Amino acid sequence: LHDRAQKLNLTEVFVSLRGDRPLSEQVYTALRDGILGGRLAPGAKLPSTRALAASLAVSRTTTQLAYDQLLAEGYLTARVGSGTFVAGDWSERPATAELQSLLAEGAATPQSDYAARLAEVRTRWRGVTRNTDAEIRFRLGVSDASLLASKTWARLIAACASDTSPAATDYGRTGGAPELRRAIAAYLEQARGVRCDSRQIVIVSGIQQGLGLVTRLLANPGDAALHEDPGYLGAATTFAAEGLRVVPVPIDDEGMALERVPEATLARVKLAYVTPSHQFPTGAVLSFPRRRALLAWAKSRGCFVFEDDYDSEFRFEGRPIESLYALDDSSTVIYAGTFSKTVFPALRIGYLVLPPSLADSVATAKWLAGFGNPSLEQRALARFIEDGHYGRHVRRCRVQYARRRDRLLREVLRRFGASIELCGERAGLHVLARFPALPATRIPALVEAAARESLEVQRADVFYSTPPAEAALLLGYASLDEDAIAEGVKRLARAVGSLA
Ligand SMILES: Cc1ncc(COP(=O)(O)O)c(C=O)c1O
Repeated sequence: LHDRAQKLNLTEVFVSLRGDRPLSEQVYTALRDGILGGRLAPGAKLPSTRALAASLAVSRTTTQLAYDQLLAEGYLTARVGSGTFVAGDWSERPATAELQSLLAEGAATPQSDYAARLAEVRTRWRGVTRNTDAEIRFRLGVSDASLLASKTWARLIAACASDTSPAATDYGRTGGAPELRRAIAAYLEQARGVRCDSRQIVIVSGIQQGLGLVTRLLANPGDAALHEDPGYLGAATTFAAEGLRVVPVPIDDEGMALERVPEATLARVKLAYVTPSHQFPTGAVLSFPRRRALLAWAKSRGCFVFEDDYDSEFRFEGRPIESLYALDDSSTVIYAGTFSKTVFPALRIGYLVLPPSLADSVATAKWLAGFGNPSLEQRALARFIEDGHYGRHVRRCRVQYARRRDRLLREVLRRFGASIELCGERAGLHVLARFPALPATRIPALVEAAARESLEVQRADVFYSTPPAEAALLLGYASLDEDAIAEGVKRLARAVGSLA
């Protein structure tokens, strides 16, 4: 990043000159704020004082005074013969006290009911941690992007980028790029037994966005949504942000146990969120009788089922799990898939397969929320799928992740024996690791001990509405190679040992 910033050559910097403060002071303040805010990147080369003076229509003395002040304070460095550059990484500096208090004030005085609910959402996500400095990161929900055939991907991106025809550069079509919708429809039929017309598909910026759009369309504040317990925080907090009552449904070995939810709490349920192929985070598979019962229940209530099929591509044992969508004969299932786990999350492309009655309104909601996804990646992805690269990539990843999973299981058995119980290991990108002898009160100490070993681990209790009595972690293994997994488990064993 720094290398690229070094090459950044600013020929002009816009400075708004208003008010009655001296012009040199205004130029100084604008540049300083640009540096502190990260808009003027470290290493960027500034225009000469003469060029800046000309572009701002001020005297050269004005810009010279401003540069001198910034040089004296260390915001800029001058290299004789080559110019003036932004010094150091100022964007990493903590915010000034003034900015910090303004930010805090904003959070404390929400502008609307929605903003007030968002404040609560922020609090709930605090338990989901990233330890970017850790040497070994058992990252949750993140696959290994380095397995991507990056040359092929780059070639397709380049080919699509060089197309400047109106079809490629205009605002896109409602619902998403037609070629991507067609490619997904064909892929889903062949790989997941999901039969649909491409007009039922809406391209979204990941399942997370799709769930938000659907929730707003199907429910009003005060309505309710079923949520797995434990379950995906992105769903629980989407419902909470939209003002819905979240009804937790207990999870057992057969997935979501709707029959255990008291009837009285099911009033005004408009949407049921489920991860039937690989329950997040336990890995349970929704059993056939429960699938039938859920669909019949939803049909009788006129409510919709949101099937989040986020990592169904990675099943390592047994037969592939059929989708709920394929079992549904009354158009109650909204099927959601993502390329976040198979390609990479920064792509921000997912899709919804909608009952025909909803397709148009969801497409309109997506359209309104920013006129669709960027076309470049959609078109490149369509070709990636059509040309068969995607299918091959998924198969290659499945083999790799299965090996990594096997290694994790072996190492855990070796280092922990029976003091860890693993679940959800037959599929996906992580396992749930329970420590029966470690009470939940020790979780913060466990996470700290892991950090001392330079490990990133995710506590599992944040995904429960009523956290279990024993400590549990989620160990994402897909982004680590086998040696890192072995070393990580060894360190984890040391961390747990240090708590005794
Ligand atoms: C269960 C589950 N659903 C959905 C998502 C989000 O997917 P996307 O990146 O497509 O928004 C995640 C992300 O980790 C997830 O774990």
